[in-house]
Amino acid sequence: MDLETISARLSALQEAGLAAIAGATDPEGLETVQVAYLGRKGELKTLLGGIGALPAEDRPHVGAIGNRVREALEAALDARRLELDAAALDARLAREAVDVTLPGRPFRRGSLHPLIETNREIARVFGQFGFVVYEGPEVETDVRNFQALNIPPDHPARDLWDTLYTDMPGYLLRTHTSPGQIHVMQQAAPPIRALLPGRCFRYEAVDASHGFEFFQVEGLMVDEGTTMADLRGLLDAFAHAMFGGGRPTRFRPGYYPFTEPSVAFDVQCVICDGAGCPSCKRTGWMTILGAGMVHPVVLRNGGLDPERYQGFAFGMGTDRIAILRYGIDDIRMFIENDLRFLEQF
Ligand code: PHE
Repeated sequence: MDLETISARLSALQEAGLAAIAGATDPEGLETVQVAYLGRKGELKTLLGGIGALPAEDRPHVGAIGNRVREALEAALDARRLELDAAALDARLAREAVDVTLPGRPFRRGSLHPLIETNREIARVFGQFGFVVYEGPEVETDVRNFQALNIPPDHPARDLWDTLYTDMPGYLLRTHTSPGQIHVMQQAAPPIRALLPGRCFRYEAVDASHGFEFFQVEGLMVDEGTTMADLRGLLDAFAHAMFGGGRPTRFRPGYYPFTEPSVAFDVQCVICDGAGCPSCKRTGWMTILGAGMVHPVVLRNGGLDPERYQGFAFGMGTDRIAILRYGIDDIRMFIENDLRFLEQF
């Protein structure tokens, strides 16, 4: 090989090397090119291996060209490596980018059902007077739901409660929370101050103000010397706590087989303040509960001596109290589980 040929081959090698470097698209590809051109068995080494065949005076010249080719290729490799690294970094940043300006995903917060909220508020108010919460079963005996409450089988007063019976004779779905009175009297000794919230069931056509399933809160106080005035004072305090201080209240005569005397407890209409409106059927009053002095027969059925103890009891519909507090016009909303409704409380 002569000087001219070897020079030409060196510059051809440089050109091919530069093209290969430019064509490498990733760090591994670049590594392969480097080995192929500059490695120990690479093209440059092989070509310069033929230098021994040249005349001595040409060798330094060829050596210098060879060095320039290596330097040019090394410089191109370094530059290309930087480029590829930068591109890889850009791609990774783009892939892992987080847009911190995106609004967060909204958090759904649960809240208490308005009926639970109302039950708790009722329990809180009576709790201030020493009333303790008890619970009775939803499936009751005919005895506790009716007979022990002074309502014998076939008594016409049973018509006040349209009852859902079970397949098991003698068992029914409680129509009110009053059987809880019997449970408490049999469990606890006077003085008794019990509050019994619970779900009740009646065989009723469902409309805006009646459900076949609803909540009641029962109250029972039994002690020596308990009077109707105690009942009146307690219910006044309750009405004022729930519906605002100073709101007028009244007792009207009522009838329940398990209380004597029995009353209906009214508060001045919370919608029209007594002026008369469709909600209070233009009377200016709304009945919020039934109450009375516990009948001696009921005290005896609860295992207490009516000569020694007197008591009062009251029962209210949680749904009704909640309707008045929140200004809702359809109790079916309470059991339909529509979040648009429930989220307003
Ligand atoms: N249990 C009666 C009802 O469901 C309400 C009531 C309770 C009345 C306690 C008097 C005493 O209608």
